[in-house]
Amino acid sequence: MKRTTENAVSTAHRLVRDVVRPGDVVVDATVGNGWDTQLLAECVGSSGIVYGFDVQQIALDVARTRLDANTRNVDLILSGHETMQQHIPAEHHGRVRAVTFNLGYLPGGEKTVTTKVDTTLQALGQALGILAPGGLITIVCYSHLEGRAEMQAVQDVLMVLPQADYSCLRTEFFNQKGNPPVVFSVYRASSYEQLP
Ligand SMILES: C[S@@+](CC[C@H](N)C(=O)[O-])C[C@H]1O[C@@H](n2cnc3c(N)ncnc32)[C@H](O)[C@@H]1O
Repeated sequence: MKRTTENAVSTAHRLVRDVVRPGDVVVDATVGNGWDTQLLAECVGSSGIVYGFDVQQIALDVARTRLDANTRNVDLILSGHETMQQHIPAEHHGRVRAVTFNLGYLPGGEKTVTTKVDTTLQALGQALGILAPGGLITIVCYSHLEGRAEMQAVQDVLMVLPQADYSCLRTEFFNQKGNPPVVFSVYRASSYEQLP
């Protein structure tokens, strides 16, 4: 019998499903093979929009084949996620319900084309800038050489976000052997009426 266990990606997907609703504007910051893009497209439905970024045309091509032929709500952009603010229309800034990052290199692809600390942090800053109140950022970090530095750098940024405005969680599978991936999740506080 096939066993199903939780992993970093399935955890991130569950968090996204909890938050994203039909009609939402969302961003896949690392399209890769398109699994996250597909989930986001399903969650936002035909009335929402997914902006997807990758620096490799091959990734965008594979992702496009994964999407339903009728899917018109996904805008795949061949550009680094550090350019997200310039590509996403200003009217959507502050209205983005979720941004997903799945860092590292394209599985089955060129390992040298990987996310990098500097651009990842620029993109994270921009994602925080366009996130809606009540919105979510998920970041799956891996432990290859560049990945470890990236994981630490991401954590350092999240660690100092003001707790009145953001809740930051780190989820890890500490019984897994080796250096298992880590899922960071960042929730922007919703607006609320002050209680008397
Ligand atoms: C682990 S894969 C993403 C997996 C993907 N989300 C999926 O569902 O299959 C990481 C991707 O990040 C891409 N990448 C590397 N640097 C990037 C950058 N600056 N901006 C956007 N994507 C980048 C790589 O080309 C690769 O496709």
